[in-house]
Amino acid sequence: MKLQGTMQINDKGHLEIGGCDTVELAENFGTPLYVLDEQYFRQNCRRYYRAFTEKYDGVVLYAAKTLLTLAVCRMVDEEGLSLDVVSGGELYTAKKARFPMERVYFHGNNKSAAELKLALDYKVGRVMVDNPHELQMLDRLAGEAGVQAKIMLRLTPGVEAHTHEYIKTGQIDSKFGMVIENGQAMEIIKRALALEHIRLTGLHCHIGSQIFELQSYAHAAEVMLGFAAEVRRETGWQPEEMNFGGGMGIYYTAADEPQSVSKFADTLAQAVKNLAPQYGLAAPKVLVEPGRSVSGPAGTTLYTVGAVKSIPGIRTYVAVDGGMGDNPRPALYQSRYEALLANRAAQQPQEMVSIAGKCCESGDMLIWDIDLPAPAPGDILAVSSTGAYNYSMSMNYNRLPRPAMVLVKDGAADIIVARETYDDLIRNDVVPERFNEGRVAKIAGAGR
Ligand code: LLP
Repeated sequence: MKLQGTMQINDKGHLEIGGCDTVELAENFGTPLYVLDEQYFRQNCRRYYRAFTEKYDGVVLYAAKTLLTLAVCRMVDEEGLSLDVVSGGELYTAKKARFPMERVYFHGNNKSAAELKLALDYKVGRVMVDNPHELQMLDRLAGEAGVQAKIMLRLTPGVEAHTHEYIKTGQIDSKFGMVIENGQAMEIIKRALALEHIRLTGLHCHIGSQIFELQSYAHAAEVMLGFAAEVRRETGWQPEEMNFGGGMGIYYTAADEPQSVSKFADTLAQAVKNLAPQYGLAAPKVLVEPGRSVSGPAGTTLYTVGAVKSIPGIRTYVAVDGGMGDNPRPALYQSRYEALLANRAAQQPQEMVSIAGKCCESGDMLIWDIDLPAPAPGDILAVSSTGAYNYSMSMNYNRLPRPAMVLVKDGAADIIVARETYDDLIRNDVVPERFNEGRVAKIAGAGR
């Protein structure tokens, strides 16, 4: 496993993150356990902030969907980033963390009236409008509230990024945004410009996720600015800001070769800077919405090894105490991860094994075919690059409680998400009162 962020192997041969011995973390907080490397997370925020604001007129939005908790919101705020939220729940979390609402951008392809009202009530910075239905609804709600809503419009530029099919969102056949090529994008812009309670500030696109080809962004810039020039000719309006979404790829395994954030900025923001005058436009502010590349590499999950089952001549299954409940990505996208035994981190791999989760699903396999030093019950398995889309996509399948999360820095570990309890699992369950009155048996038995 590649050591990332503040990871190192200490003199006991244990994996250390943020100056904390992960074997002790597992003992003190139990497993499965999400460990977030504070220094690394903040460093990733800072890299983006510097790359897009020092040389360019940029704004960096952290994509909350990758990992959002109250403490995470506070760090994002302290590092000067803005926030991209996609639901009332994410918005509420930001509000409760006292995140400055003018730096919140509200996304989503099907926001409800209640969510839009909440956004207006909180006075979010921008609503990222996806479709005409939402535009109309927002205009009405803003009118009722006596305000003008600042919006950006999400467009589908038809740029294909090289990534997994499920996480490709820039192509034309997409549930997100309005298509440029067939005229729908132009139509919604004209509508937005005509509405009294709407102020259109800019345009947005997102071309995919886990992208390594920076040229895809330069291409998106070309398509978006070319279109903006057309809009200007037809309407006289031009965007003050252009948002190019997130998508920068990260290291999961040796097959991944991430690009640096400064190269990303130099490709995208420079392309916008160069193209704007060519298209007769004033250079817009460049917005980006990185998520995975901020939170992903800063997270590690610790598990305890339980049953080890060898099928001679076939494979060895090493079962851990978590799985698709805390990390659905391998089951959903066949994602690959690296891992090591945290309590024997200095030992050489001896055996190829496969890591199984504990859900009742054959598909609940965390890692197929990984070389490890012959895992035994009680070993602590550390899986790296789990900071993004793990906790945020976690679930209670099989009624497994969700893990705790600790934030580690300089030898200190603080719980930022408490471990779910069995009581949490039944908290919202309700038994109809009539079950206690003996009526059910009668109804069920009637006429049989
Ligand atoms: N902006 C928009 C409009 C997005 O749709 C996304 C991700 C982002 C920003 C952040 O993209 P990032 O920098 O994290 O690549 N659950 C999948 C990924 C889904 C991506 C959804 N949109 C996974 O686990 O790989």
